[in-house]
This record gives sequence, structure tokens and C-alpha cells, in this order.
Amino acid sequence: MNDLAVFLGQVIRRPSQISALVPSSKHLARAMAASLGPDSGAVAELGPGTGKITRAILERGVAPENLTLFELNPVFCRRLAGDFPGVRIENSPAQNMPALGLMGLGAVVSGLPLLSMPPSLQHQILHAAFAALAPEGRFIQFTYGPRPPLDAQVQNELGLRVTRGAHVLANMPPARVYHYTRH
Ligand SMILES: C[S@@+](CC[C@H](N)C(=O)[O-])C[C@H]1O[C@@H](n2cnc3c(N)ncnc32)[C@H](O)[C@@H]1O
Repeated sequence: MNDLAVFLGQVIRRPSQISALVPSSKHLARAMAASLGPDSGAVAELGPGTGKITRAILERGVAPENLTLFELNPVFCRRLAGDFPGVRIENSPAQNMPALGLMGLGAVVSGLPLLSMPPSLQHQILHAAFAALAPEGRFIQFTYGPRPPLDAQVQNELGLRVTRGAHVLANMPPARVYHYTRH
């Protein structure tokens, strides 16, 4: 089965976990990975789904052994394991990151449907991500709407700064990339 068929099958079974109708385009995936490279150090990706952004991260030169994926859906995890040998795959919620011992990451790249989640869960996930990130590390997230992808109160509580990245029209629907760093 191709990626789209697998994705649609899981959208029907678990709509609230996925919150998108189709996977990201390769243009959005490349925009999400554009600031990464061979010197990014260890990187985590949250909610990789069928691996569109994973592929773009590896194409930027991040070594497979430096990449860890956190994906809730076991069907996606099995597919990711076949497609991306050498990448560590955790069939585990993103908010469990610190329990798995990740530290000093250069970046966390997220395809999670953050704005569909309650602020308390957004807070848990961002808190976990920044506990795993190096001091200068960044959290990269896309969103479809006009608002930034993180609740403003959660951003303030965690002391984060946001910058807008690329606006990608060649995606269904068009999306914008945002970067969060510590103040
Ligand atoms: C919108 S899809 C994005 C898929 C892919 N990144 C893309 O851009 O095509 C969201 C993904 O996040 C996963 N997910 C949702 N909540 C999660 C959580 N708390 N921890 C890890 N993965 C989660 C879903 O299973 C799904 O694969």
C-alpha cells in the first residue's frame, strides 16, 4: 500500500490523533527540515505519521542514528521501521520523551496536531521537548491556520520565543512553519 492509502486508513480509524486528511507535501516537509544539517546533533521528530518529514530530515544530512521518532500509532511505527533503517522509533507519546533519556537535542521537529490538543497537553509536550533540547535547541512546528501553532499562554508559561518561517502554498491545505526557542 502507498503512503496515502495507509494514512487515509488511519485517519478513518483514529481521526482525533491525526487531525489531517492527507500527509504533508514534500515541499512542507523540506521547509520543516530546512534549518537542519549534518551538524544539528541529535534530533527528535514527533508524530511522523508515514514519514514525509522524516525523509526530508534525513535528506538534510542528519544521520539515521541521530534521529528518534515518537509516534503513537503502531501501524505507522511498523511502516517507519521498514522505510527508515537505523532510525530509533518509539511507539510512545511525545510527552514521554524525558522518560526515555533524550538530552541535549539540537532540534525537535513536530508534525503533531498541537492546536487540536488541550492547552494542558500542549504544555506537557512542549515542556518535555524543551527538557530534552540543548539550551540553543529549537522546536519546529507547522500549522494550517493564521494563528501560531501553540497556545499563547503555554508559550508564556514556558518562556518561549516564536519566529515565523516559510509559508508553503504547495500543501493541502497551505501551511506555515514556526520555530520556538527559549527566551
Ligand atoms: C497530522 S499527522 C502528521 C503526520 C506527518 N508528520 C505529516 O506531516 O504528514 C499527526 C501524527 O501525530 C501522531 N500523534 C498524535 N498525538 C501524538 C502524541 N501525543 N505523541 C506521538 N504521536 C502523536 C498521529 O498518530 C499522527 O501520525
